[in-house]
Parts: sequence; structure tokens; C-alpha cells
Amino acid sequence: MANHKDFHKKETYYKQAKVDGYRARSAYKLFDIQKRFNIFRRAFYILDIGCAPGSWLQVAKKYAEENLVRYSDQHYHRDHYKIMGVDIKKTSPIENVNIVKADITKLEIQTKFNLFFQSKLDLILSDASIKKTGNKFTDHLKQLDLCYKIMEIVRNNLKFKGNLILKAFQGSDFVKFTKEVKPLFKILKSYKPMSSKKKSNEIFIIGLQKKN
Ligand SMILES: C[S@@+](CC[C@H](N)C(=O)[O-])C[C@H]1O[C@@H](n2cnc3c(N)ncnc32)[C@H](O)[C@@H]1O
Repeated sequence: MANHKDFHKKETYYKQAKVDGYRARSAYKLFDIQKRFNIFRRAFYILDIGCAPGSWLQVAKKYAEENLVRYSDQHYHRDHYKIMGVDIKKTSPIENVNIVKADITKLEIQTKFNLFFQSKLDLILSDASIKKTGNKFTDHLKQLDLCYKIMEIVRNNLKFKGNLILKAFQGSDFVKFTKEVKPLFKILKSYKPMSSKKKSNEIFIIGLQKKN
């Protein structure tokens, strides 16, 4: 049974999402991560894995639009943005966002990434989540399995100095996984956003500045 604080938290963010026009309360997890780690800094080409119903896409689009103005300087910048969201489930359209209904564990998706991003991907967001069974240990391992597959996408597509957010579930093999991901980034952190339910073992891996 959900504890009282979690129920209250869920209700509060749910109501806030309605007021602010976000499709899910998960938007606030991403705002929290952004506040803490500034992952959207100079992000123009963005991939969102497990994007349905689309609140992270809404947030990504907001920052990408702001970045066009904020970073129009002599350093790394672009005059346009490109955002792609991928999910097995249907995601309602968002203007100027490319939504693909596909399973990200299937190899065919790589062709779409190549064509769309052309090796210039600045940021990968993944809130992708397995269908939970209710058994924390099994779910932890199944989610890690998905994370390993997503890390292949990260290795093959994220550009030099690009950033990553990746959802995992805490458990016995979590540290081993982070140790394997760590060499790929200059900075690697794990973080549980304020809006994430206390009893949930969800945790986000934040990879900053991918190495070559
Ligand atoms: C928590 S939801 C994402 C919520 C989203 N970030 C938002 O703010 O609207 C997790 C999503 O991951 C998707 N997912 C899980 N496994 C996937 C896979 N192999 N390929 C594509 N999407 C997947 C699920 O269909 C689900 O919609």
C-alpha cells in the first residue's frame, strides 16, 4: 500500500502537471535533474527513449527552444533543434518533434538515429521502464537489462561531450552497472529526484561530458 506521504506527493505533482500543461508528473523529475546538473546546457539534438505520454519531450522542447537564443555565441551552437522521441506505446504528436513508435531494443532503430541525428546527438534522456512485476529483485534485473541495451545506443550515438540521463532501479547489481558506465563519462552521478516516490527504488544515472 502506498504510504501517506507518497500519495500526497503524487497528488501534488499530478495537479501541478495539469495546471502547467504537462502530460505527466514525470516532467518535474526532469526539471529537478536540470536544476541540479544543467544537462540541457547547449543541447540542440536530443533523443528521448521511452517517451510516452510525452512530458519529457515537452520539457526537452522548451529547453531546446531557449537554447537557440541563449547560446547563439561563438562557442558550440546551432540555429535549429532536433528532437526525437521513441516508445513502444503511441505518443500523441508534438509540433516539431519526431515521434517514432518502436522498440528501442531492436536494431532497426539505429538507421533512424543515423538519418535524423547524423552523429550530432547532444543529449540522451531515458525514462524507459520495464513493465513491473511487483517483485523488486526481478524488476531491478529486468530494468538493468534494458539499461545495458540503452547503453549500446549511448555508446554508438551520443557525441563527444554529450550528456545522459538513464533510469534504473536500485538493487544488488546497480553499483556494478554504474562502474561499467563510469569510464564513458567525465562525471557520473546517481540521483533520486524530489518528485520521485520515496518507496520507489527508481534512480537516475546522470552522465556528464561523454569521453571519446
Ligand atoms: C515512465 S514511462 C515514460 C514517461 C515519459 N518520460 C514522460 O514524461 O511522459 C516509461 C515508458 O518506457 C517505455 N518503454 C519501455 N521499454 C521500451 C522499449 N524497449 N522501447 C521503447 N519504449 C519502451 C514504455 O512503453 C513507457 O511508455
